[in-house]
Amino acid sequence: MIRFEIKQYDSVGSTNDEACRLALAGAPHGTVVVAREQTAGRGRRGRNWSSPPGNLYLSIVLRPDLPPARLAELSFVAALAVVDTVDRFIPGKAVLKWPNDVLIDGAKISGILLERVDAAIVVGIGLNVLHVPENAAAAATSLVRAGASHVADAAQPEARVAEVRTALLDAFAHRFAEWQEGGFGPVRDDWLERAHPVGTVLRVSVGPDPVTGTFAGLALDAALLLNASGSLRRITAGDVVLVFQASALG
Ligand code: BTN
Repeated sequence: MIRFEIKQYDSVGSTNDEACRLALAGAPHGTVVVAREQTAGRGRRGRNWSSPPGNLYLSIVLRPDLPPARLAELSFVAALAVVDTVDRFIPGKAVLKWPNDVLIDGAKISGILLERVDAAIVVGIGLNVLHVPENAAAAATSLVRAGASHVADAAQPEARVAEVRTALLDAFAHRFAEWQEGGFGPVRDDWLERAHPVGTVLRVSVGPDPVTGTFAGLALDAALLLNASGSLRRITAGDVVLVFQASALG
């Protein structure tokens, strides 16, 4: 099991930047940077990540002995750890969307950003606990908005976020150990169990023209499988949006 060494900050630009800096300076496997707020939180594809106090921001330095082609698997490990954490507060409601988005009622509750620095990997995780970011690129929610009322103790916001942090690190340690022992197969099975069903209509931004198709599963190398225009496509990078059809709503 990973032994975490937690470095707690009040305010940083980005916990990922700080974790990358520490990794370059030789920080060991299991170093965790946690901040009460970020002033320049980063999301995927150069987007910013709203980071006021009251939500969780942390980045974990990992030094797994792996070929680079398998590193993408870690983002699925992290997404499952977030689902386990959300389950502790709102059981059974979290749904996964490729590659690592965790949704509740179609709204995003968490973001995961993986970065490589020398031989280390930094896994950055943001989880909305008390606040829902305004002006987010996609619909967003938080544990409190989604119904985890016992997290909403306004008198103790720091304690509430710390409780979620403990649950997340505990879940990550277990998921990481399972992945190291069992490889991607069991991770893939668990991910598929919590993903939207096969056949869900997805719109994927790959290049200038989005592709719409139906979800056909997750490949053994973690690529998204999409049935589109009569053929099975493998998607290895891109943004995915769930398309809600009139029949599904009615
Ligand atoms: C996404 O775009 O969905 C990824 C968002 C990742 C946000 C987290 S918050 C902690 C860590 N520090 C950052 O600057 N980003 C990640």
